[in-house]
Amino acid sequence: MSSSDSSLEKALIAVAQKAAKQVRDGEVLGLGSGSTVARFARALGDRIKKNNLNVLIVPSSMQAWMLARENKLKFHPDSAHCPKILDLAVDGADQIATKSRAMIKGGGGQLLREKIILSSSRRVFILVDSSKVVRKLSRSVPIEVVQFALESVQEKLEREFNSKPALRKLDKGYPYYTESGNVILDAQFGEVDHPKELEVSVKELPGVVEVGIFNCKVDRFFIGNQDGSAETL
Ligand code: A5P
Repeated sequence: MSSSDSSLEKALIAVAQKAAKQVRDGEVLGLGSGSTVARFARALGDRIKKNNLNVLIVPSSMQAWMLARENKLKFHPDSAHCPKILDLAVDGADQIATKSRAMIKGGGGQLLREKIILSSSRRVFILVDSSKVVRKLSRSVPIEVVQFALESVQEKLEREFNSKPALRKLDKGYPYYTESGNVILDAQFGEVDHPKELEVSVKELPGVVEVGIFNCKVDRFFIGNQDGSAETL
């Protein structure tokens, strides 16, 4: 590990600990997915143990479920269904825009349950490293699509949005399937000036299950910097 890698790792651990400190006793917490959330799950496990807190987890994916198990976090009794309201959701992101506070998520294949969880939470914390912070969203957007509609959605994205979507594949060329049995199209839209409009118009295409543009309210972004420091936005 180079020294800049290790200071970034230090910053991400600090970010995870800062966020874990904000978790309150008795909360129901929606746990996002990804490597940054893995650090948070560790920090939360430590905090719960140290302060003897009662926190119940609703996992956003099999990975989040595994993280909760590994860190001895307690599950909400009905963690297979999203409760009407969660107290807090903690998640990562692939890109966040300072101007609109919109995000791109789903780089790891999870977006459907994450969006349900984030939109049902009283408070939302997003944890990222500073390389993901931009003025306007610009990286490719994951779009979860039912298999039956793959080609029709692909065609509409090309024709109506001037995009060149690519079917997400595993290393050996097999298609990637989401936990809900759908496929993912990764689509470029260039710099996104109006993330809300883009999210809504792509979601309207028949066969699209969810779009990796998130315009939900985020209370705090926790950002880890390359120099090892951590800040909030
Ligand atoms: C999972 O598919 C995503 O939405 C993650 O939140 C996002 O990809 C960030 O993951 P990392 O924290 O691993 O970069």
